[in-house]
Amino acid sequence: MKTYVVSGAASGIGAATAAQLRGQGHRVIGVDRAAADGVDVVADLSTSEGRAAAVAGVRDLTDRIHGLVPAAGIAGHTGVDSRLVVSVNFFGAIALVTGLHAELTTGAADGGAGVVLLASNSITGMPGWNAPVAQACLRDDEALAREEAGKVDSVMVYPSTKAALAWWARREGVKPEWAGAGIRLNSVAPGATETPMVAEMRADPVFGPAIDSYPTAIGRTGRPEEVAAAICFLLSEGAANIVGAVLFVDGGTDAMLHPISPQGWEVGPIEP
Ligand code: NAI
Repeated sequence: MKTYVVSGAASGIGAATAAQLRGQGHRVIGVDRAAADGVDVVADLSTSEGRAAAVAGVRDLTDRIHGLVPAAGIAGHTGVDSRLVVSVNFFGAIALVTGLHAELTTGAADGGAGVVLLASNSITGMPGWNAPVAQACLRDDEALAREEAGKVDSVMVYPSTKAALAWWARREGVKPEWAGAGIRLNSVAPGATETPMVAEMRADPVFGPAIDSYPTAIGRTGRPEEVAAAICFLLSEGAANIVGAVLFVDGGTDAMLHPISPQGWEVGPIEP
């Protein structure tokens, strides 16, 4: 039995991932701002205090983590504060990953550990998303990322946070303290997946219709358990040779939009 930590465990993809891992006989420590079945640590990942409480709450329950899935996130759509999207989606996720590095290192001694970040196929599917936000995220400058985000609509900030997560996993994941310590960082990039988040977006009068406008080769949107299955694979020993991957789980949308190679997630220069 291994020990996994899943944020966003109260709903959607996080809940489906936790359920699959538990079904495989593993222990899962759920983190969410909402108290619910399967949530062991209630914390708000949008603030530094909440992130510290989440890390401390997990540490109270285990000193050894074999896998971490920071799935907590919020969508960008009408009425959503762009700055909150930055704080939850990028900085809330990265704070868990870096804050639990010691426990992941201990877990890796048992035959490897994994982290799977939740990117999105919006990083290649939504041209024109805000690059300065992604650049500030990748410079670990939350104040600047929030300032840049505040200038634009949250719908253009959501992909910025997701591209930054995928790039962060690639940039950091190859370093001695991650891959070198037996901790593999990878990302999944789901397309529209039928969770409460997508239901909320569909209800948006402005951006709702866009959800179903993306083509898929399989002729339907995704299911949370399909994304969870990809996450569980990336966490497994079968993925021991996979580092820095961005696995599209989108029914072929990215392949249809970019048949030769993924495009559209260029964030530009990261160094100041
Ligand atoms: P969801 O809305 O069903 O679940 C998100 C969970 O995150 C909820 O339980 C919520 O309480 C939690 N959460 C939100 N803000 C939080 C905060 N400040 N602190 C702690 N917990 C917080 O969403 P879904 O669809 O399951 O999304 C999971 C992840 O997958 C997100 O990162 C999302 O961006 C990503 N994703 C989802 C896609 C979709 O179509 N559903 C597509 C691509 C990526």
